[in-house]
Amino acid sequence: MIKEIPAHKLNTRQFIKEQVAAISTAVGDGTAINALSGGVDSSAVTMLGHRALGQRLRTVFIDNGIMREGEPARIVALFRRLGVTVEVIDARDEFFAALKGIEDPEQKREAITQTFYRKVFGRIVRRSGAKYLLQGTILTDVDETVAGIKRQHNVFAQLGIDPQKTFGYHILEPLIHLRKVGVRKVGRALGLPAELFARMPFPGPALAARVIGAVTPERVAIVRQATAVMERRLKSSGAFQYLAILHQDRVTGIRGGQREFGHQIEIRCWDSIDARTATPTILPFSTLTKLADEITRVVPGVVSVTYNITRKPPSTIEAI
Ligand code: XMP
Repeated sequence: MIKEIPAHKLNTRQFIKEQVAAISTAVGDGTAINALSGGVDSSAVTMLGHRALGQRLRTVFIDNGIMREGEPARIVALFRRLGVTVEVIDARDEFFAALKGIEDPEQKREAITQTFYRKVFGRIVRRSGAKYLLQGTILTDVDETVAGIKRQHNVFAQLGIDPQKTFGYHILEPLIHLRKVGVRKVGRALGLPAELFARMPFPGPALAARVIGAVTPERVAIVRQATAVMERRLKSSGAFQYLAILHQDRVTGIRGGQREFGHQIEIRCWDSIDARTATPTILPFSTLTKLADEITRVVPGVVSVTYNITRKPPSTIEAI
């Protein structure tokens, strides 16, 4: 059983010192590798690894093509300001090839997970020759893996690595005693900007979790633009999470006097503490109509915007 360090008992300075020392000791004069997604956990791990190893940590950002607008460049720039070099791996084609023809939500998730671990990141790790992999696993991930909710935790198996054959290969999980609140505190103490340590939740399957039906570059582009409008306009709303979803069905709209059989976007905005339950935020109607006006104006082909008014459960926060 892994011991929890509750956020209220966490001494961030001491925690950082201990984890940096532990990484230094474990890796010695070897090299390590980690994948940065731009989320809170992988960002904190990147900083800990960087403090411990400097240039001997190789940090890769895998561009899977289903990220939010401008994300790879933004994350690279943010880390450059912190003195950390991040290498972007363009794997967009591989992810879209894996998603081709899949409409079932679970199959989509599986295709993304397998492409990430077995193909793209697995290949990078094997070729890197690094003996240490830094991973941003937190205690909640372990709990959810044990409970069968998540499958992320067993990285060895997911990388297609046989620990026996790869004797000497180690996974370091410096955040494993923490939950999200603790990670945010550590991230802040490590000098991450608020836009990283206080980032709202975003799903592992990224924008593919918000595309109902086929996940193609064109359909992801639609949801990406609508997401950008949501994130810009609701930044100061205080809501827990907000997002846009592209529906599979189309509806007739009218634009410039012409009937247009166009796309439907559903928007969601949630109040929640821990994402386990959530209620739709009571946004002012004027905010909702402004969102609809902007989304239909800037996102090509969208003729309908609806607001989800269902609680979780039975809804979920994401769409797939
Ligand atoms: P749902 O949609 O299940 O989401 O109500 C609950 C919270 O978890 C996020 N989410 C994920 N996070 N990997 C993650 O790390 C995933 O596969 C994943 N799916 C959903 C979601 O954004 C929400 O905050």
